[in-house]
Amino acid sequence: MDKIIVEGGKSLKGKVKIGGAKNAALPILVSSLLAEGQNTYHNVPQLRDIESIRHLLSDLGAKVEKDGHTTRIDAGGLCKSEAPYDLVRKMRASVLVLGPLVARLKRARVSLPGGCAIGARPINLHLKGLSQLGASVKLNHGYVEASADRLKGCDIYFDIPTVTGTENLMMAAALAEGVTTLRNAAREPEIVALADVLNKMGADVQDAGSSVITIRGVSYLKPAEVSIIPDRIEAGTFMVAAVLTRGDITILNCEPSHMGGIINKLKLVGADITVGDNSIRVIGENGIESVDVKTLPYPGFPTDMQAQFMVLMSVAKGLSIISETIFENRFIHVGELKRMGADITVSGNSAIVKGVPMLSGAPVMATDLRASASLILAGLVARGATEIHRVYHLDRGYESIEKKFARLGAAIKRVRE
Ligand code: EPZ
Repeated sequence: MDKIIVEGGKSLKGKVKIGGAKNAALPILVSSLLAEGQNTYHNVPQLRDIESIRHLLSDLGAKVEKDGHTTRIDAGGLCKSEAPYDLVRKMRASVLVLGPLVARLKRARVSLPGGCAIGARPINLHLKGLSQLGASVKLNHGYVEASADRLKGCDIYFDIPTVTGTENLMMAAALAEGVTTLRNAAREPEIVALADVLNKMGADVQDAGSSVITIRGVSYLKPAEVSIIPDRIEAGTFMVAAVLTRGDITILNCEPSHMGGIINKLKLVGADITVGDNSIRVIGENGIESVDVKTLPYPGFPTDMQAQFMVLMSVAKGLSIISETIFENRFIHVGELKRMGADITVSGNSAIVKGVPMLSGAPVMATDLRASASLILAGLVARGATEIHRVYHLDRGYESIEKKFARLGAAIKRVRE
């Protein structure tokens, strides 16, 4: 097990390159199941979650090759239709194989993912949509067992705009007979990225990115060669670091048009932000104003940036209210930040954050992917040293984050525990 040690007080300056988006790469790699032949994916981030999905796809019979940030997958030899508990438990996005397996192999047996640190995270909307498409869907011994001779297009209305639910059913509908309309669909850039890949494979997906997506089923898909879009959450994390440390960071290889909610909020905090075609420069010399934030489905402020923003507010001038509307238990990082001297009171799905002049370094524990990034941010501005344990959470979603921060001037290192 590794830990990360951060010495606070450095102002971060320089350039940082953003990697491919984990939450785009996961569904896109899974879409390889829908076709025979070799797909090539560029700009794939080197993360534990991506390793897990490659392992699952290979377990199902696909030929999977990793070559640095390029992954090649040929699902011509797809022969298994079961995603076992020990794989799904570790990486809940494995449920994304459900729709493609039923569409391609007419059956799937996928373990229910169970809850996780940030909430119960049911997949009832995935299953409801699949049965509306004509699949028989049963729950047995903790597994979903789904089957269908051929899925039939229909109108599906999501009670909640679910990201992976939209992705799962978009992939299933791509090979269904007839037209499927997904209403109240999620609008995240990762959904648009998946639709673009499916259309490159010969699918007919229209209006992804809006809340009504239309998919006209086709009888087969062919492999594609694509590049993964930049990770807007990694980019947002470095933007917060620039404001937090009164620094000056230029973020390269990012997609500013995916980051309106983040850019808007950080401007209100006082950041001086210059947006380029695929770069953003953030200067944090004006100090940190307290600003309220509410997490919302895209294009609102992303829940995956909530913990990072909370660190910023914990050293802001004044009081802010942070409301988490997506997940019911996404304040686990509050306890760790309070151990570093933050003044935060949680009431229901809101956290009242009273800015303090300075945090103090302490040994802390990462609990979920984004919370672990927030602990590094807190360490960057805390007095003294902060030791972050269980950094495997971090490695799930951030590639070499400590090296990127060190290149920006942070006193940070990873040591084996
Ligand atoms: C995706 O999770 C992301 N993961 C999450 O990122 C992200 O936080 C989340 O979307 C919200 O933006 C991936 O894309 C792999 P949802 P997902 O279905 O799809 C409820 C990270 O750190 N819901 O949009 O699982 C659910 O409980 C991760 O990278 C149902 O009730 O999220 C939640 O309250 C964390 N029934 C809300 O909808 C369902 O069938 C939104 O969840 C599905 C979801």
